[in-house]
Amino acid sequence: MGRFYITTPIYYVNDEPHLGHAYTTIMADVFARYHRIAGDEVLFLTGTDEHGQKVAQAAKERGVDPQDHCDEMVERFRTLWATLNISCDDFIRTTEARHRRVVQQILQQLYEAGEIYPDDYEGWYCVPDERFWTEKDLVDGKCPECGREVVRISERNYFFRMGKYQAWLTDRIRNDPRFVLPASRRNEMLGFLRRPLNDLCISRPKARLSWGIPLPFDESYVCYVWFDALINYITAAGYCQNEEAFARWWPASCHLIGKDILTTHSIYWPTMLKAMGVEAPDTVMAHGWWLVDEEKMSKSLGNAIRPLDLADKYGVDAFRYFLVREMVLGMDSSFGETGFVHRYNSELANDLGNLLNRTVVMARRYLGGIVPQADLNHPDLSALKLQASKTLDGVTDALGELNPSGILDAIWDLVRQANRFAEVQAPWNLARDPNSRNTLKATLYGLLETMRYLAVLLFPVLPDKAEEIWAQIGADGDVKKQTMHGLQPWGRLRAGARLNAGSPIFPRIEPVEDDHSEKTDMDEGKGALVPFSEFQKLEFRVATVASAERVPGADRLLVLQVSLGDEQRQIVAGVAEQYRPESLVGRQIVVATNLEPATIRGVSSEGMLLAASADGRVALLQPDAEVPDGAEVG
Ligand code: ME8
Ligand code: MG
Repeated sequence: MGRFYITTPIYYVNDEPHLGHAYTTIMADVFARYHRIAGDEVLFLTGTDEHGQKVAQAAKERGVDPQDHCDEMVERFRTLWATLNISCDDFIRTTEARHRRVVQQILQQLYEAGEIYPDDYEGWYCVPDERFWTEKDLVDGKCPECGREVVRISERNYFFRMGKYQAWLTDRIRNDPRFVLPASRRNEMLGFLRRPLNDLCISRPKARLSWGIPLPFDESYVCYVWFDALINYITAAGYCQNEEAFARWWPASCHLIGKDILTTHSIYWPTMLKAMGVEAPDTVMAHGWWLVDEEKMSKSLGNAIRPLDLADKYGVDAFRYFLVREMVLGMDSSFGETGFVHRYNSELANDLGNLLNRTVVMARRYLGGIVPQADLNHPDLSALKLQASKTLDGVTDALGELNPSGILDAIWDLVRQANRFAEVQAPWNLARDPNSRNTLKATLYGLLETMRYLAVLLFPVLPDKAEEIWAQIGADGDVKKQTMHGLQPWGRLRAGARLNAGSPIFPRIEPVEDDHSEKTDMDEGKGALVPFSEFQKLEFRVATVASAERVPGADRLLVLQVSLGDEQRQIVAGVAEQYRPESLVGRQIVVATNLEPATIRGVSSEGMLLAASADGRVALLQPDAEVPDGAEVG
């Protein structure tokens, strides 16, 4: 039995939660629940980030006191998490007394140890992001993160000696492949660390911003919101309050975050902990972005999808399932309702829902609705039994790799096998032949027992539907209390138990009108002459491949992160058969940059790589002398 401590980011309470927040929290919930059924002790933490400029600003705009604003907004998160069946063990707010005390204690301790020092500082400041940037960080004179205006500020501030931990941190990231996941993000951080690491400004003069935790050694300043926020992860684990609890839970197993906050989590946070003499977390796992119309969904862009709308329309469990299934962890995905409905109908209504329905209907029709006494060693059952145990191993392995779609792949192997089994056994024929009575019983028992496995294994993703499955097959006890270990040995569904009639757990829904799904008219118009004016509309540029990874489940596809100098793009390319991902990193390529974005196998692609092809071979185009990234081709 192990321990598993997982966290989500603590979200800003400046606005309503959207699909992106729901995604991270649902993923963390799914991991937490799988670890619980694996028999681990789990601490699952989420919460809200309530200090700093953004929140102060939001409160000011509404004309309310910041604390009142937070008290009101936090309820939106709590309510959403309750609706989405989030099983967090603790919910932390950074305005709570327990957190303020810990932050102040750490500040005082680091100040006394000389890890924090005062200095005059002049720099470019992004007000909405609350971050200082150096001249060379700026992109076209604007904030490199959000692209908004920056202002020049000079003031006395307090600094954390982050720079002195550069070598230590670089080694830590390099020597521990699980410290930053996925690998593309780890490379990004190692790249970041090739430049000198500056000290971190951790104070804000009260005159400019008063909504924060006061520095204990200088009351005219408040603590920088990120320095305050990151500490939540140890506050909740008991740091400086309950040493026994802290020793139990720390280091955290996994900080699950979006890639927008990777630097703060894998650079600031480990160095802060190092200075405190506290161990770094085991893993910082950064997932990609949900895009809408190929743009990152965010509050500021006004294209946010409201999670409750979808959960209301299609059900909480279907919504949870879709998010876990659709995004390959680490890559960006486009959200589209068409894709949602398609998956719902084919995977939930068809594969899973039908399996349950036909199983229960046949058991009622042919066996009077009672779990039969069957020969568990009947030869027809061997493949199904084997698959059940393979699936159990597959789930365990994928869980160890923090790979949620791998977990569902392993489970769907069993779902599909069971559907095939039902077809091959054809209980409707067996039922007509009195000599096949034993085979009929074994067959239906096999299907019912498979549903018991599926209920337990799907509970972390589909907590409500798993309960319905459990009730329909007449299983004993409470599905909430089952463990993976307790599934075995195969055949524990009690003979003689009475099935319960139920309605289909995922009734089919009508497909919706197309929104932004895959485009297929690739070859249309081939061979026709194109006027020069049309050709001129195309833009080709040179780019360097920053990282390359296989697209799981697609043998031909690689997903590349490429740098166009002032911009990063994600591009999906069908070159996996000719090029190993590692061999592409660092190479210059040519990219068509103004094509409409597309979604390929659920992964979004913002451009097309140019390559020559003949006889099934592919050769990448590449400039024959090094040119700056972003250089135009044509
Ligand atoms: O950054 N796609 O809070 P925040 C996927 N308070 N995930 C998304 C997303 C999208 N389009 N948009 C947001 C903060 N997220 C700080 C965190 S932690 C000590 C402090 C998710 O409200 C994703 O997890 O801006 C991202 O990292 C987080 O919301 C940012 O939430
Ligand atoms: Mg944000």
